[in-house]
Amino acid sequence: MNVVTGYDKMSNDISTSTISKSISKKEKEYLSKTKKSGIKKVVLNDGVFSPNFLPNNISHRKQEIEHLLEHFLPTRFQKYCSDLSLYGVTGCGKTLVVKILKDALSEGVENTFYVFVSCEVNSTSSAVCKSILDQIGVKWVGSSVSGYINQIEGAISGKLLLLILDEVDLFLKRRKTNENLIEVFSNWDNCVLVFISNDPGWHDLLKDHRTISRLHLSNMIFEPYDEYDIFDIIKDRAKIGLAETSFDDNLLREISQFTAQYNGDARVAIKLLHRSAEYAEEEEDEKINTPHLNKAIDSLEVDNKLSFIKTLPPQHKVILISIYNASKNFKNPTIDAVYEEYKRLVRYHTEWRKLARHTVEVYINELETYKLIQRVVGKGRGRGKGREPTCIITTFDVKKFEEMLKR
Ligand SMILES: Nc1ncnc2c1ncn2[C@@H]1O[C@H](COP(=O)(O)OP(=O)(O)OP(=O)(O)O)[C@@H](O)[C@H]1O
Ligand SMILES: [Mg+2]
Repeated sequence: MNVVTGYDKMSNDISTSTISKSISKKEKEYLSKTKKSGIKKVVLNDGVFSPNFLPNNISHRKQEIEHLLEHFLPTRFQKYCSDLSLYGVTGCGKTLVVKILKDALSEGVENTFYVFVSCEVNSTSSAVCKSILDQIGVKWVGSSVSGYINQIEGAISGKLLLLILDEVDLFLKRRKTNENLIEVFSNWDNCVLVFISNDPGWHDLLKDHRTISRLHLSNMIFEPYDEYDIFDIIKDRAKIGLAETSFDDNLLREISQFTAQYNGDARVAIKLLHRSAEYAEEEEDEKINTPHLNKAIDSLEVDNKLSFIKTLPPQHKVILISIYNASKNFKNPTIDAVYEEYKRLVRYHTEWRKLARHTVEVYINELETYKLIQRVVGKGRGRGKGREPTCIITTFDVKKFEEMLKR
């Protein structure tokens, strides 16, 4: 039995013969669905909606691109240029623009290495160094960061390294000592650093003033897109990813207007376009309509709630799991039932201090403020007999939450 989720391993077992039967059943369903009479596909190319896709056309960033090209041009001649800090709100094209520039600048150049490291994926010093070594074609040996640093230093000796650290704030927040790596690179005359972040105050995370003073930072900001910019971006994406007759300007306008609420995050707009198209396809409609878009917006909310749950402090998470577990037994559990379940969970995890009932209740109130649960106040008068107790209802997608717990 998994203590946290309450899953019973026995009831979760599945035999290989059951899997085979299940595959052949699902195969038949799948084939009958795809064979269905001449229904046209809406999504023609899923790849163009992936976060890693680099489009040929970049709208509304011409000025920024020209400015960056001019800034980095000396590196094509192995000449140093100042380090750069690039920031802007989420989804405003920072990663896309820099990745495209990196590819363009490196073309035909031999003595400058252009390296892009995502600190979201590589959040330790060791992972960053290994990613650099992989990209400059050096096989990393051993397991010490200082060893990797020596390898990088040796490989770029007499050459230039332009190192882009995307989401650098995540790297600095992950571990205090990660700052040391930036200090090392900032000491090298043949290394140009580019930092990308959506936090304009990311430098405050650098605690050592020597590092800050060694960096020769120029700053650049990408302004957020407005709804007209977003319209152009998603129109381009729709043209290369969707069936020509499946969308129109009205739909794209609806998406871009909605995205204005998300500070003009192009990622959100592209996701909504893709999901609405998938819903249209699922419902065997050839054209994407407003109900498909509304469904996509609802599913985005679900995703947002789950991402938010992941960032909750540990005790809030345990209480949420207690509510989820108690819901399985009582449908809409009372606070007493939730607290019983909470006590059961923390008994198995000595690292979690058991909170008093009233504190748990305070946290439950917070979870309600975050709209993850809802309290249904019992009917009846006063506190006495005849009053139904207050129950708790979960308002997040329980199925997806369950999948998240299993991972
Ligand atoms: N000007 C543009 N033209 C075409 N597509 C764009 C443009 N700007 C952004 N996109 C697309 O929007 C999505 C988000 O862009 P990107 O990842 O570059 O944002 P970001 O600024 O790096 O965001 P974050 O701060 O969250 O990392 C990507 O799918 C990207 O292809
Ligand atoms: Mg980015």
